[in-house]
Amino acid sequence: MIYLDNAATSWPKPKEVHKYMEKCLKMCGGNPGRGTYKSALDAEKIVYSTRECLAKLFNIENPLDIIFTMNATYGINFAIKGMVKPGDHVITTSMEHNAVARPLIQLKNDIGLKITFINCSTTGQIDLNEIRKAITPETRLIVSTHASNVTGTIMPIDEIGMIARQYNIPFLVDASQTAGVIPIDTKKSNIKLLAFPGHKGLMGPQGIGGLYVEHGINLNPIITGGTGSNSANLNQPMETPDRYESGTLNLPGIGGLYGALKFILNKKVQNIYNHEKKLTDILISKLQRIRGIKVYCGNVRNRVGVVSFNYKDVDSRLIGDLLTEHGIAVRTGLHCAPLAHNTIGTLKQGTVRFSMGYFNTKYDIDYAVHTLKHIISKHL
Ligand code: ALA
Repeated sequence: MIYLDNAATSWPKPKEVHKYMEKCLKMCGGNPGRGTYKSALDAEKIVYSTRECLAKLFNIENPLDIIFTMNATYGINFAIKGMVKPGDHVITTSMEHNAVARPLIQLKNDIGLKITFINCSTTGQIDLNEIRKAITPETRLIVSTHASNVTGTIMPIDEIGMIARQYNIPFLVDASQTAGVIPIDTKKSNIKLLAFPGHKGLMGPQGIGGLYVEHGINLNPIITGGTGSNSANLNQPMETPDRYESGTLNLPGIGGLYGALKFILNKKVQNIYNHEKKLTDILISKLQRIRGIKVYCGNVRNRVGVVSFNYKDVDSRLIGDLLTEHGIAVRTGLHCAPLAHNTIGTLKQGTVRFSMGYFNTKYDIDYAVHTLKHIISKHL
């Protein structure tokens, strides 16, 4: 199989991921923060070291401001639902995934949250003036994806962060397609809340992700419970990460993520990006040469390794099924991001999406394009 579905989850995983997951299961079986025996202390060390690696990766001062969640969606829910109150207004973009759109719409239905979806162009790009114009005294949060999971378009988060700073509005970034792939500097981009999955660009296992909550931002925790600390108090602790981390952590997941982070910090994010970008440029130019293929946002330079296309008006799912039959793993349809598809005009047809990862090679791209051409000539 040629795996080109890294935007859904990265695969294969670096061998360090296997190694540290196994280590957690075999040697650090205790519950971190709940015991003083060796295996619990070892577990605690791995958890802290993982926070340290993430802090290094995202330029975060205090590793304890990073909380572990199940995935980016949980992090986004923690951030949005912990932040807004009745009467608030939130600004976001028309390129968001349902991980952002659905919590916002839920709050609109439940508490009357006002939302402005800034309409992006058909190439997925945002007009920063529209953000400025949308700000009201009630604006409580600005939320943006860092890169679209449909088109790969990178959002100008430095500039959005500057606007957020100017108006003193917290800025939440959904780094689902960029963590581990593009250097992220929370200080430089004025990111107060950063939600990230552990299993995509960070190359860890599924079931682990996180949220950075800048010191001074007090979210109302949407999940409360045991934290292993201050147990006599029935109120949730105020200190991070305990405030937002109730219940036993996913230690094997965190261990796997630790292994992946060691791998990434060693390779360096910029090198990972350069590799994926090179393959992406080759893929786009090959696809654009096939008659009948339309690549969405193909001419956008500032992008990650996510490429959406269609062939004439053929349903994207049919092409996906044929590619699967021929051993190419891709994702088709709406990619849980109907807003983004509406923006680029593919709500009905969906798109076929190839998404590159660090372990893909030029051979994979050549083979996938060759297979696609074969499918078009034989079946369509
Ligand atoms: N959100 C993931 C994707 O784009 C799962 O496929």
